[in-house]
Amino acid sequence: MNKHPKYEYPKPVPVKNRKWPDIRLKKAPIWCSVDLRDGNQALPIPMTPEKKYKYFKMLASIGFKEIEVGFPSASQDDFDFTRKLIQENIIPKGVRISVLTQARKHLIDRTVESLAGVKEGIIHCYVATSDLHGNIVFDKTREDVKKMSVEGTKMIVKAIEKAGLKNIAYEFSPEEFTDTDIDFAIEICEAVKEAWGKCEKHNFILNLPATVERRPPYQYADMIEYFMSRYKYLDETTVSVHAHNDQGCAVAATEMSLLAGADRVEGTLFGHGERTGNVDIVTLALNIHSRGIKTGLDFSDMGMIVKTVEGASGMPVHQRHPYAGELVFTAFSGSHQDAIRKGLSAGSRKKAEEIFHLGWKVPYLHIDPADIGRKYERLIRINSQSGKGGVVFILEQDFGYRPPKEMHPEIGDAVQSYADKKKKEITSDELNEIFKKSFIDIKGPYSLDDFHIVSELNKGETVRAKISVTINGAKRELTGEGNGPVSATVKALKTQKDMIEFIINDFSEQSMGQTADATAVAYVSVKRGSDGKIFYGVGIHSNIEQAALRAVFAALNRAALN
Ligand code: KIV
Ligand code: ZN
Repeated sequence: MNKHPKYEYPKPVPVKNRKWPDIRLKKAPIWCSVDLRDGNQALPIPMTPEKKYKYFKMLASIGFKEIEVGFPSASQDDFDFTRKLIQENIIPKGVRISVLTQARKHLIDRTVESLAGVKEGIIHCYVATSDLHGNIVFDKTREDVKKMSVEGTKMIVKAIEKAGLKNIAYEFSPEEFTDTDIDFAIEICEAVKEAWGKCEKHNFILNLPATVERRPPYQYADMIEYFMSRYKYLDETTVSVHAHNDQGCAVAATEMSLLAGADRVEGTLFGHGERTGNVDIVTLALNIHSRGIKTGLDFSDMGMIVKTVEGASGMPVHQRHPYAGELVFTAFSGSHQDAIRKGLSAGSRKKAEEIFHLGWKVPYLHIDPADIGRKYERLIRINSQSGKGGVVFILEQDFGYRPPKEMHPEIGDAVQSYADKKKKEITSDELNEIFKKSFIDIKGPYSLDDFHIVSELNKGETVRAKISVTINGAKRELTGEGNGPVSATVKALKTQKDMIEFIINDFSEQSMGQTADATAVAYVSVKRGSDGKIFYGVGIHSNIEQAALRAVFAALNRAALN
């Protein structure tokens, strides 16, 4: 090993034939939000009571059934907030609030006092159990630490009884679990369980925290598997994990720990918490969602959640934050845009789901943005690296244009040259402007001032039209015959010596909107006589013939100007 002199490889726990790597997660864990405690205590400016209240309501609406609301014995604000929740009957039915305490009598008494009148609650007690903490911070032996844990638990049992509180569960955290000798952690946890007494699984929680993430994520899972295979009271205990994110692996560590058997997860939205924070429940839960497992948490209004958390924490959610960031469903590269466009089409969806049984699977998108309230039309932004596929996708999705395939390269070129000059991403509205300026509103040497059909010949098969035009600044009155308004106009124009040489190369039309006053859109291309180059023009009008004539003049002007 090419060893660095400063650090040691974290000592693995002795699991033999570990099972967790082969386990497939079947259900989501019990979620406990610690935003209002672990998250809040690590904010440069802690939340005001009003912000905490709003946050609590949001957490309940997302679907959290367990919410740690504070450390009432350590802060008057937290005490008052807990009282407000209980006294004003704010806690929804089925939601248990949790309060944190240290294992000291006066703090326990104050904590129990804060819960007076609660319908359901959790008292959460923590004791640091690592040798590092015992020796360096507290100057205590393992025996002292165990005694403190057991005595603290007994004090809590007594205080709950004395206060006459009902439906109170107990949570014990051997703080720095992942830095604690695992057999000693099991010994303490069993002693604590014995002090609490016999109970149902949901009334006794052992929370095994990675208080500081010093190990690789797979070692956390190993520790959970080892713990659960030896700890005696598993059928009366909920095993909970609480991962901090010092090495950026809290989500991975938690997912692996769930495979190893953990029942419950503590964490925060977007990973607020001490230092690099706690595990991010948004990412974790949506990862589980993306594996086809119902999570019980509702993130369908991600915009509102981001705004509320940003408002409460004073910290922005990063643009690339998984699931929640502004840019995470945005493709800049042309090939990505093209693949997304194809993958989102109804045909591809059908293929993926019915033929290949792939569930929802789209190139470059790992979940459907709609699941979290994001929209398809915001998927693609345009910059100088975008291809025509993405550009046309926006024109179709946002503005309803359906330009013919042969026109796509010309649209791509027009947008590309604008983007190259701007050197920044282009918004969808700008794209619409570029499209209008490049293909619809073309000021050039030709304009159509008036058009009307004088007579229909041969039962409508041929028309004679009178057109007023301006060519190279001179107004002219022309007459033409053809099998429709476009061909009559083209014939009339071709009589003029100072017109460029051209032929009509392609014509297509569509309607926009479904009502009686739907707008007609025409796409016409002309082939320039001098070099055979093709130029598209677009016309929009309530009348399809007028739309077509406008498209002809737009195409002719482009041919004359380029
Ligand atoms: O990180 C931690 O260990 C904690 C405990 C209080 C559970 O937050
Ligand atoms: Zn923590």
